Amino acid sequence: MRFDIVTIFTRMFDSPLAESILKRAVEAGKIEVHRHDIRDHTTDAHRSVDDTPYGGGAGMVMRPEPLVRCVESLPEAGKRCRILMTPQGETLTQDIVRELASFNQLVLICGRYEGIDERAIKLVCDRELSIGDYVLAGGEIPAMVVIDAVTRLIPGVLGNEDSVRSESFEDGLLEYPHYTRPEVFRDEKVPDVLLSGHHAEIAKWRRKEAVLRTFKRRPDMLKAADLTEEERRSLELTKPMKTAK
Ligand code: ADE
Repeated sequence: MRFDIVTIFTRMFDSPLAESILKRAVEAGKIEVHRHDIRDHTTDAHRSVDDTPYGGGAGMVMRPEPLVRCVESLPEAGKRCRILMTPQGETLTQDIVRELASFNQLVLICGRYEGIDERAIKLVCDRELSIGDYVLAGGEIPAMVVIDAVTRLIPGVLGNEDSVRSESFEDGLLEYPHYTRPEVFRDEKVPDVLLSGHHAEIAKWRRKEAVLRTFKRRPDMLKAADLTEEERRSLELTKPMKTAK
């Protein structure tokens, strides 16, 4: 997978790419991350990328010329999607992340200021994505979120493919609770079933806990989840909680 980041703050990506899974994915050649400074595509002495909005109003708007030139200067590397990171976009979900992982190249365009000239969006963006209903200072952190979420789905990146399959959202449920040593911590004991060595019972317990946790914390997810009739019936006897526990 090739990522092309289009931004005015290329250095914001230094440390996230220099640690842990992303670092290893780069070193193993699983991903390539190329950063492109929009300012390198300006033609004025001040290297300006923004201007005042037509029609007035607060804030500045990203000018179309340098941004469009920057995106159009990128090489095409197979099946490509050019994505604008913006709070106006479709909300990112694990389903969308899976879809993105099927491309060869993702161009991540990071907006700044009050917005981007609409004509630039029309010309060089295939899709607009938001990472949630809140406003950040720019699209750089959201772009990093996309890179992280997509990279961990690339075969061979995590090492253990099971860890992708069993985790939250992959099967429409939140994850079951996890425990490790010690067996007793501050008077709280690990559930007996997990110490039993009985794999079928452990799997049953984990499934039950995942269903219950999803019901309590994210009942909105259950409609689409693959539950048995028995699981649906057992939930009808339980009340969802107002706050997560
Ligand atoms: N830019 C600013 N806020 C954003 C958000 N929530 N998602 C994507 N891009 C953004």
